Amino acid sequence: MEEFKTLFDQIKSKIENAKSIDELEKIRVEIMGRNGIITSLMKKIPEMPIEERSKFGKDVNDLKEKANKFLSERMILLREIEERSKAFQKYIDLTIPGPLRENGKIHVINQVINECVSVFSKMGFDVVEGPEMENVYYNFEALNTPEWHPARDLHDTFYITDSILLRTHTSPVQVRTMERRKPPLRIVSAGRVYRNDYDATHLPSFFQIEGLAIDQKISMADLKGTLENAIKSLLGEDKKIRFRPHYFPFTEPSVEVDVSFGGKKEWLEILGAGMVHPNVLRNVGIDPDKWQGFAFGMGIERIAMLKYGINDIREFPRNSLKFLRLF
Ligand code: DAH
Repeated sequence: MEEFKTLFDQIKSKIENAKSIDELEKIRVEIMGRNGIITSLMKKIPEMPIEERSKFGKDVNDLKEKANKFLSERMILLREIEERSKAFQKYIDLTIPGPLRENGKIHVINQVINECVSVFSKMGFDVVEGPEMENVYYNFEALNTPEWHPARDLHDTFYITDSILLRTHTSPVQVRTMERRKPPLRIVSAGRVYRNDYDATHLPSFFQIEGLAIDQKISMADLKGTLENAIKSLLGEDKKIRFRPHYFPFTEPSVEVDVSFGGKKEWLEILGAGMVHPNVLRNVGIDPDKWQGFAFGMGIERIAMLKYGINDIREFPRNSLKFLRLF
C-alpha cells in the first residue's frame, strides 16, 4: 500500500511539472508505455503468490486509472496554453506604432519668465526668490508706503491677518535682498502677485519680474539703457518704447514704460520703474549719499500679450489647452 502511495505521488508530480505537450507525451510513455511503470508492475503478477495477485492487480489498475486521469487533465491545460500563445503570436504586430502620448510643455508664463531671466542674466543680474505671503512691512512700509499713504488704495489685496497679506508686487524682494546682501548688487526676482483687479488687462493674480541694481554712480540713463535693451531682446528691435513720468512711493523719479501694441496707435503698459528712493535705502541701512540704484517691476502676462498678440489677459488663467498649446 505504502509503495503505491509514493509511486502515485511521484507520477502525479511528474505530470504536473510537464511544461509542454511533447514533454507530457514522454512522461505518458514512461508511465503507460510498453516498457513503462504500469506494464512492468503488471509483469510482476504471474510471479506472485496467488493470494496476493488480486489485491496487487487492483492497486495497479487503480494507479493506472488515476495516472490516466491526471495525464488527460494536464493535456487539456497544456493544449489550451499552447493555443493561446499561438493566437497571441498571430495577432501581435510589433510594427504597429504604440499609443500616441502627448508631450507636456512649459506653460507660456514660465516660458516668458525663463526668457526674461535669461535676458537679465546676460546683463549680470542674479536670480533671487521671495515669499508670496508677505509682511505688511516688506510689502508697504519698507518701500516708503506708510499706512496712511494713498498709494495703498491701488494695492488692495487678500489679507491673511492684519499684518500678513498676499504680496501686491514683487518689490518686497528688493528689501529682503538688500537686508541680506551688501551692494553693489544686481538681482531679478519673478513670481506671483495678487491684487483686487479684474478686466481685460488686469488679473487678481498675475506674475511680475522685479529688478534691482545698486551701485555707485548709477543714473536714470542706466535704467533706460537696461530696460530698452531688455525689452528689445524680448520683443524685437522694431518695438516702439515709451517712457512716461509716473509716481511710485519707493522711487524718485519714477516712470512707467509702454510698448506699442496692435498696429494702431495703441500702447500697453508693461512696467513701473525708477531710481530707488533714499528712504528705501535708509530702511535697510544703506547710505544713500554713497549708493544709488534703479529698480523696475515688469508684468509677465503683459510681455506675453505683446509677444503673441493676445488681447485679453484673462486667457492665461482660463487654462484652455487649445490656448496653451499655441505656445
Ligand atoms: N511694484 C510696482 C507695481 O507693482 C512696479 C514697480 C515700480 C516696481 C517701480 C519697481 C519700481 O521696482 O521701481 O506696480
